[in-house]
Amino acid sequence: MRIRSTLAGFALATLLASPVLAQSGMTVGFSQVGSESGWRAAETSVTREEAKKRGIDLKFADAQQKQENQIKAIRSFVAQGVDAILLAPVVATGWDQVLEEAKDAKIPVVLLDRNIETKDDSLYLTAVTSDQVHEGKVAGDYLVGQVGSKPCKVVELQGTTGSSPAIARKKGFEEAIKGHDNISLTRSQTGDFTRTKGKEVMESFIKAENGGKDICAVYAHNDDMAVGAIQAIKEAGLKPGSDIMVVSIDAVPDIFQAMSNGEANATVELTPNMAGPAFDALEAYKKDGKEPPKWIQTESKLYTQKDDPKAVMEAKKGMGY
Ligand code: AHR
Repeated sequence: MRIRSTLAGFALATLLASPVLAQSGMTVGFSQVGSESGWRAAETSVTREEAKKRGIDLKFADAQQKQENQIKAIRSFVAQGVDAILLAPVVATGWDQVLEEAKDAKIPVVLLDRNIETKDDSLYLTAVTSDQVHEGKVAGDYLVGQVGSKPCKVVELQGTTGSSPAIARKKGFEEAIKGHDNISLTRSQTGDFTRTKGKEVMESFIKAENGGKDICAVYAHNDDMAVGAIQAIKEAGLKPGSDIMVVSIDAVPDIFQAMSNGEANATVELTPNMAGPAFDALEAYKKDGKEPPKWIQTESKLYTQKDDPKAVMEAKKGMGY
């Protein structure tokens, strides 16, 4: 009896001393794409911080850009009997079978920052993403506004082939420039969302376009590729930001540095905090069975050189960057 009450007292004291245990207590598996970009690294670190704050035991698996690794990770999370799974899917297709396995095991899956293509949307609880077509459109509208009636050849650095942001950001940009006959998308190739490939592909575009003199703007599906492109433009003896305009998506600190140097023109912000809304939805679902909306949409804000890039860059530090 004495032992039992001492143990109960100990448990209570531990609970009170540890707000972490008093909170969620969930175990969540997170299958992350990899670490291809500054934005991705920030998303990982925000997810870890959010989990810690809420007392969630986060099981992290880095897929190194491979869908097969993500499928293995999901199967392993199911085998471990986690309470929920976060999935940032590297590509949009090929998920039905493994998500059915999670559904059969009654483990809710939340998609983070990228969408999947499926006929059965009951395979996931909700998706926390931006409107990726809109992001491309915001970038395109900005460019249209800057170019006016001048002729402008644009080159495009696409994200990972088959990923939802690469598909949607291309679509949105093309919608924005449609009907503006002075603007043409002359070259488009994947740079896989990385700085290195962004630079390599931009070098090949420059070579093919009269040493870069025929290029009026580069549209990159993320800031890291834009930073690589800036490097390539400088090495070709041209001025990024003026000889060749640079427009991209993510809003990572490095692009604000480039904007403040006059070497990049605009970026569309994507918050790295996808985990906050995802955990909110999961906690409400687990606690009261409350179904979240199928899409939790994050904001897409345009930043240009006029927005005091230095100050924005400083403010971003500590937000996962
Ligand atoms: O899915 C979001 C995209 O993936 C980010 O824009 C990019 O940086 C990342 O790798």
